[in-house]
This record gives sequence, structure tokens and C-alpha cells, in this order.
Amino acid sequence: MRQKLVVGNWKMHGSRASVDALLGDLAGGTAGAAAEVAVCPTYVHLDQALKLCAGSTLSVGAQDCSHMASGAYTGEVSAEMLAELGCRWVILGHSERRQYHAESDDLVAAKLAAAISAGLQAIVCVGETREQRENGEAEAVVGAQLKGALADQASLEGLVVAYEPVWAIGTGLTATPEEAQDMHAYIRESLDGIAGVDPAQTRLLYGGSVKAGNAAELFAQPDIDGALVGGAALVAEDFRAIVEAAR
Ligand code: PGA
Repeated sequence: MRQKLVVGNWKMHGSRASVDALLGDLAGGTAGAAAEVAVCPTYVHLDQALKLCAGSTLSVGAQDCSHMASGAYTGEVSAEMLAELGCRWVILGHSERRQYHAESDDLVAAKLAAAISAGLQAIVCVGETREQRENGEAEAVVGAQLKGALADQASLEGLVVAYEPVWAIGTGLTATPEEAQDMHAYIRESLDGIAGVDPAQTRLLYGGSVKAGNAAELFAQPDIDGALVGGAALVAEDFRAIVEAAR
């Protein structure tokens, strides 16, 4: 049985005051949840978030990490540093990284290798653009992203994959539960061909305009094991409702 996982991707949002307020509410408000719950604030809010989540069931992750271990890489943060701080998770290959920072599958693979070696649990994001979907290329694109990131890794135990169609992120458009399920089934099938992955144990999250109103029907799909939530993760009441939908 795969336990549902709901992860908040806070992107470049938050202040010390808002992190205090949001986690003050969530740390108690998600106790006893059926789903495992994690939040991914900005690098500068990680330490604060870790302190606020200590002793709760919430775990904390980063939104990215460097592919390098250490050295003269101005502006970068290594996977080891995140692990030492106490982070459990790291989101890798988010479409905003691919789009605004030109991250390739090779770079995502190198970051994943760094995360694995540091003992972080990676949430690897894949997803097609609207144009790719309209051209009938969605599965080919997602399949190539999976292979590109996951091939030849030392260990993929605990891997999480997030399917986030680019056209659904922050747009209010969501894949229908059937569209999402179809792609999740395809992803699980594709994982079967990748060494070191146990497809039946790998949690597959859906992301892209997940809200309290659509979470339950997404979570009811057999291959959807939770959600990676952006906008709605910044409002305690909305995020709690998504977590509750996993019950
Ligand atoms: P959204 O973002 O929920 O605001 O669409 C999801 C994500 O980018 O992870």
C-alpha cells in the first residue's frame, strides 16, 4: 500500500512572518492526517521551517539543489548542505527550473545523483507543454524525461515522481482525473523498464492547479498517490483541505 503524500511547493513566496503563520497552523492542523505531508519553502526559510516542524508530522524539503558536491559555484546550495540542515526532500526538474534556468534532463540526472548520495529523497518532476500534448507527444516527452533523469542512478529507493503538465501549473487548468490517471499509469509502466525502481512502491504525485475542490477525485485514481501543490499550499485552510482529501 502506498501512503498518500501531499507536498507544498512554496516557490519564491514567503517571509519570516508568513512562514511562522502558515506552519503555526499546519504543524498542528495536519496532525493525524492519513497522508504524509511535506513543505518545501525557499532556501532561506528552510531552517525556520525545520524548527517550526520539529516534533510534528510535517517534513521539510528544498525546491532544488546543486549537481555539484562543493566548490566555487556561486549561488549554489549542495544536497549535502540540505541533508545536514535536516531536510528530507528535494524537488528536482520542476518545469519552472527547466523553463527559466534551462535545466536539461542531464542536469536533472546529475542533481538526482547528488541528492541520492546525500541521502535526500527526491521528487522528480516531469510533464509536457500544451503544444506537446496537442501534438500527441505527451507520453514521449514524459517518457524521455523519466529515462533521462532516472537511468543509471545508484539507488532509486524512495523515489517520488511528480507528473505536472506544464499547461496546468498556476493556470487554474487541471488535467481531468482520467487524463491524469492515464499519464500516471503510463509513468508507472515506464518505471518498470528502469533499473533500481520498484514501480509498485514508487509514489506518483499529480501537480498543476490542485485545489481542495479537485483533490479528492484526483486522489481516487488508482495510480495517483498524492499531490505536489503550488498556489493552494500557501493558504493553510486550502492546503489542509487537500491533505484531508487524501483520507
Ligand atoms: P500550482 O503549482 O499548484 O500553483 O499549479 C504546482 C507546482 O508547480 O508544483
